Amino acid sequence: MPRFLPFLLLLLLLGTRPAADAKPRPAGRVVAEFNKGWKFLLGDEAQAKEAAFNDASWRQLTLPHDWSIEGKFDEKNPAKPEGGGLPTGIGWYRKTFTLPATKDKRVYIEFDGVYQHSDVWVNGHLLGHRPNGYISFRYDLTPHLRPAGQPNVLAVRVDNSAQPNSRWYSGSGIYRNVRLVTTNAVAVDHWGTFVTTPQISAAAATVAVQTQLRNTTGTTQQVTLETVLLDAQGKEVTRDLPTTVQLHDSVTTVPQKLHLSNPHLWSVTQPYLYRVKTTVRRGKKVVDTYETPLGVRTAVFGPQGFLLNGQVLRIQGVNQHHDLGALGAAFNVRAAERQLEILRAMGCNAIRMSHNPPAPELLDLCDRMGFLVMDEAFDMWQKKKNGKDYHLDFPQWHRRDLEDLVLRDRNHPSIFIWSIGNEIREQFDSTGTRLAKELTGIVKRLDSTRPVTSALTEQEPDKNFISQAGVLDVLSFNYKHAEYPKLPQRFPGQIFLATETAAAFETRGHYDLPSDSVRVWPLDGKTKLTTGNPDFTASSYDNARPYWGATHEAAWGALKQNPHLTGTFVWSGFDYLGEPLPYPWPARSSYFGVIDLAGFPKDAYYLYQSEWTTQPVLHLLPHWNWRPGQTVDVWAYYNQADEVELFLNGKSLGTKEKVPNDLHVLWRVPYAPGTLQAVSRKAGQTVLTRTISTAGPAAKIELTADRTKLQADGKDLSFLTVRVLDAAGNLVPDAANLVKFAVSGPGSVAGVDNGYQASLEPFKADSRKAYNGMCLAIIQTTEKGGTITIQATAEGLAPATVTLTSR
Ligand code: GAL
Repeated sequence: MPRFLPFLLLLLLLGTRPAADAKPRPAGRVVAEFNKGWKFLLGDEAQAKEAAFNDASWRQLTLPHDWSIEGKFDEKNPAKPEGGGLPTGIGWYRKTFTLPATKDKRVYIEFDGVYQHSDVWVNGHLLGHRPNGYISFRYDLTPHLRPAGQPNVLAVRVDNSAQPNSRWYSGSGIYRNVRLVTTNAVAVDHWGTFVTTPQISAAAATVAVQTQLRNTTGTTQQVTLETVLLDAQGKEVTRDLPTTVQLHDSVTTVPQKLHLSNPHLWSVTQPYLYRVKTTVRRGKKVVDTYETPLGVRTAVFGPQGFLLNGQVLRIQGVNQHHDLGALGAAFNVRAAERQLEILRAMGCNAIRMSHNPPAPELLDLCDRMGFLVMDEAFDMWQKKKNGKDYHLDFPQWHRRDLEDLVLRDRNHPSIFIWSIGNEIREQFDSTGTRLAKELTGIVKRLDSTRPVTSALTEQEPDKNFISQAGVLDVLSFNYKHAEYPKLPQRFPGQIFLATETAAAFETRGHYDLPSDSVRVWPLDGKTKLTTGNPDFTASSYDNARPYWGATHEAAWGALKQNPHLTGTFVWSGFDYLGEPLPYPWPARSSYFGVIDLAGFPKDAYYLYQSEWTTQPVLHLLPHWNWRPGQTVDVWAYYNQADEVELFLNGKSLGTKEKVPNDLHVLWRVPYAPGTLQAVSRKAGQTVLTRTISTAGPAAKIELTADRTKLQADGKDLSFLTVRVLDAAGNLVPDAANLVKFAVSGPGSVAGVDNGYQASLEPFKADSRKAYNGMCLAIIQTTEKGGTITIQATAEGLAPATVTLTSR
C-alpha cells in the first residue's frame, strides 16, 4: 500500500470541500432564518389571527420590514415630526409554513424586535403579547403545531397606532430578523449560556461557563455536557472534562471552568474572538450543540479612568439611534456595518445604544470590529416623555424587559457597561431612588461583571434621587459641560462619564457667516425659535446649537480639560429620523449627527478625526463659491503638523497654528473666485495639501460605489454616492439636480437620500434630488448572482455608470 494511501482515504472521508464547509454540521439544533414568504396587510383585520383566514390579496414580502419608511411624509401623521412625520398605525403579518416530523422536538419562533405591541398567534392560538418594540422574544410553537406536512399559520398583529409614543422615529412592523429554532426535548435553553473570565493574566485566563439545560421530556434525563474553547480559526484550544448531569427540573444550570493559556485579548484595536462550543450528549448521541462568542478582556473603571486590559482608554464614543436612514428601521447587517466603518474612520471607539436594546447583529458587529458598547434599556420609567410611550407598560413589563436584555446580551465582549435609563424623570423625586435600586439589582443579579449607569441630567447631588440611590457604578451626565470641574467635589470618589455631549446642529455643506458667532436655537426652554434659516438649514461651521447643547469644539474641549471624565458619547454619530430640532415642519430628521442621514460626513467629522486618530488629517472648509467681495471664513482642522498655510490663487494668506485649546485655524478671506489651497507642515516638511476651487456650472455626475463585489443573498448592499461636478471635476456645492437611477441585472434600489433634513421626497424611489451637490442610492442584491449595472442620469449632465458583481 502506498504510504500516502491512508491520508488519501482520510481526505475522501472528510470530503474534498474547503475547510470551512468541512466543519461538522450542528447536531440537534436547527436555526433557520424565517424572514421569507410573509404576507402583509397595512390595516386591522380581526379575523387575520385565524389559520383559515384568506390572505391571498395581501402583499408578499421578506422581513425585516418597516412599513413607516414606505409611507408619505405628512405633518399630520400622528407620530408628529418628532417621530419622523411618517405613517404608523396597525399592520398584520402572516406566514404559512409546513414542517417535517417534529416528534420529540421543540419548535420556537424568535423575534429580534417588533415595533410595537405585537400579538402572535400560531394556528389561531395566542402565543403572547409584547409591548416593548425593541426587545427580543421567543415563543414555543410545539404544542400548537399541525402534523408533519400540514400547513401551519403564524399571524402577527403589530399595533403602533397609539401615538405619539417616541421622541424619535421608531419605524413600524417586524423590523428585525425572525428565526425558527428546532431543538431536541433536552437542549441548551434560550440565551442559555453565560461565559465570563473571572481571572485574566498574560499567561492564563479562567473561563467560567454556566450552561442552562432545559429538559421538557417530563422524565429525568442523564446527559453529559462538553465545553470546548475554539480560537478565531475554529481550532480547539482548551476544554473542560465532560460533566455528567441529571436533569430533573425543567432548567438546570451547570457550571464549568476552562483554563486558557496565553490568551489573545479582545481590544478595540485587536478584537480577538474565541468561541465556546457546548455539546450535550445523551449516551453517545449528540442532542444539542450551541456556540457562544467570547472575548477575553478586562474592562474596569478606576481612579485612573477607564481601563481596557489594564490600559487607560478614553472613551471616544457616539450615540446612535436604531434607524438606518433611507432604509428606516428595517435592520440590515451591511447598512449597520457601513455606519460602524464610517465611525471607525473618525476614530470612534464606542457606541451608546441610545436609548433601547439594539439588533443583536449590531452587537456582533461591535464584537467583531472592536467597538465598546453601552447597552441601554429605557428612555423612560414610570414617568412619561410622550403620552403613549413605554411609561404605560413599564409597571408590568420593566422587570421582564430588563432581564431579557441582559440575558440576551451579556456574552458580548463589546458591552462594557449597562445603562438602566436615559434622562429619567424620576431623577427629581424619591421614586428615582427606589427604581434605580430595583433596576440595578435586576442587572447585577444576572451580570455582576459589568458596571451599571444611567444617563443623568441633574448634577446637584441633593436634587438627584437616582444618584442618591448609591447603586450606580458610574455617574453619567448629559451636557452641562461647564459644570464638569465641579463634579469631583459634588460627588466625591465617584467615576464620571459624559453620556451626551454637543448636540450641535449642522446641515452638510451649508455655512452661515460669520463662523465665530454661535447661533443658540432656541435660546432657552421658554422661548420659541423665531430666528433660524428660511430653508431649514444649520451651519456646518459648528456654530449652531440648542441652549442645552454645545458646539462640538466646546464639548470636546471640555472633555480634554476635564480628565476625570472617562470619556464621551457625542450626540450624535449619524443623523437620525425624527427629532428635527430646532426646526418645525418640514424638518423631519435630526441635525445633530456628525454624519448626515445619507452617511456623508459633515465638517465636524474631521474635527473628531483630527483629535481622535493619529492618522494625518487636513480638512479645509467651506466650499469656494461665494459672492465677490464677501468676507468668507476659511477653516482647517488638522493634526500631525505644526502649522497650516493657506493660499488663494497662489498667494499666501498666512500661516496659522493652533495655540493650546484651539481645535481649528481660521483665515478671514475677502472672496475672489479661484483656488484655495491649504498646506500642513511639520518641521518645515509638507504633510498634506488640500485644494478647493470655485465650481462652474454643473456638467457631469460622478458615481462611486462603496463596494463593487457583493453577496447574492438578497440582503447585501452597495452604497452609491453621487457627486455633481463641473466640467473640471469640482463638486458643485449647491447642485440640486434630480438624479435618476436605472438598475439592470439582479439588484434594485433599496432607498435614496441626500441628507437634507427638510426634504419630503420619499426614500423608496429610484430618483433623488442632489442636495448641496450630493445624493445617495442604496443598491440591494437579489438571490441571483450576476452583474448589476446602475446608470445615474440627470437632465443636462453627463451620466455615470457603475457596475457591481453579485455572487
Ligand atoms: C437629550 C436626550 C436625547 C436627545 C438629545 C438632543 O436630552 O437624551 O435623546 O433628545 O437630548 O439634544
